[in-house]
Amino acid sequence: MLTNINPTETEVWNKLQEHFYATKSFAIKEYFKKDAERADRFTIQWQDFYVDYSKNNISQETMDLLLELAAEVNLKENIQKYFDGESINQTENRAVLHTALREKENAEVFVDGKNIIPEIYEVKQKIKNFSEAIISGSKKGHTEKAFTDVVNIGIGGSDLGPAMVTEALQYYKNHLNVHFVSNVDGDHVQEVIKNLNPETTLFVIVSKTFTTQETLSNAMTIRKWFMSHASEEAVAKHFVAVSTNLEKISEFGIASENVFPMWNWVGGRFSLWSAVGLSISLATGYDNFDKLLAGAHNMDNHFKTASFDQNIPVVLALLSVWYNNFYGAESEAIIPYTQYLQRFSAYLQQGIMESNGKSVDRNGNRVNYQTGTLIWGEPGTNSQHAFFQLIHQGTKLIPADFIGYIHSLHHKEDHHEKLMANFFAQTEALLNGKTKEEVVAELTAKGMSASEIEKLLPYKIFQGNKPTNTILIDKLTPKSLGALIALYEHKIFVQGVIWNIFSYDQWGVELGKQLATKILTDIKSSEIAEHDSSTTNLLRFFKENRK
Ligand code: F6P
Repeated sequence: MLTNINPTETEVWNKLQEHFYATKSFAIKEYFKKDAERADRFTIQWQDFYVDYSKNNISQETMDLLLELAAEVNLKENIQKYFDGESINQTENRAVLHTALREKENAEVFVDGKNIIPEIYEVKQKIKNFSEAIISGSKKGHTEKAFTDVVNIGIGGSDLGPAMVTEALQYYKNHLNVHFVSNVDGDHVQEVIKNLNPETTLFVIVSKTFTTQETLSNAMTIRKWFMSHASEEAVAKHFVAVSTNLEKISEFGIASENVFPMWNWVGGRFSLWSAVGLSISLATGYDNFDKLLAGAHNMDNHFKTASFDQNIPVVLALLSVWYNNFYGAESEAIIPYTQYLQRFSAYLQQGIMESNGKSVDRNGNRVNYQTGTLIWGEPGTNSQHAFFQLIHQGTKLIPADFIGYIHSLHHKEDHHEKLMANFFAQTEALLNGKTKEEVVAELTAKGMSASEIEKLLPYKIFQGNKPTNTILIDKLTPKSLGALIALYEHKIFVQGVIWNIFSYDQWGVELGKQLATKILTDIKSSEIAEHDSSTTNLLRFFKENRK
């Protein structure tokens, strides 16, 4: 079990609070002027990652205090428990072992006294064999044609991870077209199947529980569509499933050899490393899937062994706590400077917000401090032309992670130089802003009169002092992507430990599911059960206007 220490009752919390009041008016750029070593001091180089966190509102004292917080909440000991497979998902009495999925074959990780590594490797072998047979065309559809398309049917963690990674690794993709159906909105499934050929399409139903309404509805609709083109026996050649619920899969009619098991000790939002990642392996080949896992494993080792001041997930988590709990920042932006990572922040929204969106602590008490941050973002430079205005000159403090690559994949060097010029320019602008003197000089040089300048001046001044982390990676490869994802997974863990919450359950999602089931009955029947008057009116209006 994780230790349960209220962070606000640690000795260092008050020190951090006092330190915040004493330093909050300091400008980050002033720290740079005073300390020539600052950029080096607050940079971590690890393998092909260069993480510069010097453009933050911190001094060495801030970092020392934050590191003291990590020590006081027993972070080291808790990390060990996480990797050792203790039941740290206490409300569901489960271990949290997505890290075991990327372990080496000779490792040993025990759940209920049983080493789980052999089972993991058995499933990996199955993923490998299956992917290779589909990609090579040796495994064919019911009319003996090779597969051309794959449809992943899942939602939440059974969709976002595979969809994000498949998009991110598009450069490494093979000839298979991979599609994702997630929303219960029938227009989504229809748009996907309308151009598909049932003879050459493989369907991968992914649902840890195999009870999720969206996934089962989409799977049923697709099966019905498929059977209007083929016989019942053909289903076995075109449908496979990934789940822990073997009974429900067989009820659905999927042959046992087409089942890819997963386990309760893998959380949905951390499951892309399991057979949930089958569509990644199909899209990019098993070797790339394996490299993704290897990259994540490297980050696991870094997280387990690096001293906390040199530990990327720990440092990023502590900085986030600093802004969230002391500066009162409500959100964090994730800005990858690569179009390939266009779904990265959507993916992290589930990972971070479903994990740390909690308000009851590990002692069962309502917390009296802030927990999970809001996560949002879009790739640069598109985001610069969309919401950056608010980050630069709005009233809200939005710490941002900038993720960029030294090498581009298609070697369009001119584009890459422009992209990266923007990448570096934005964090510099967010740090320094633009002073009154700079604005005056600029407008004077443009020939503007003193009175015109006077009028424009307040709007043209940028305060700067907006915190950013720069994560500069050599190249977008399966391996570096695996490490990047694992970095954020471990950041989630560290923050959950500090906030003393259970990061690995998601009871909050259940209420909406229960009510939707109840309301579906209202929609389908002639009666409407009792609701608040707003919901009743809405349902009545909806039903009357559908007639
Ligand atoms: O959104 C709630 C949730 O339980 C997620 O945690 C999970 O990833 C998703 O639903 C899908 O669940 P399943 O894989 O069981 O269909």
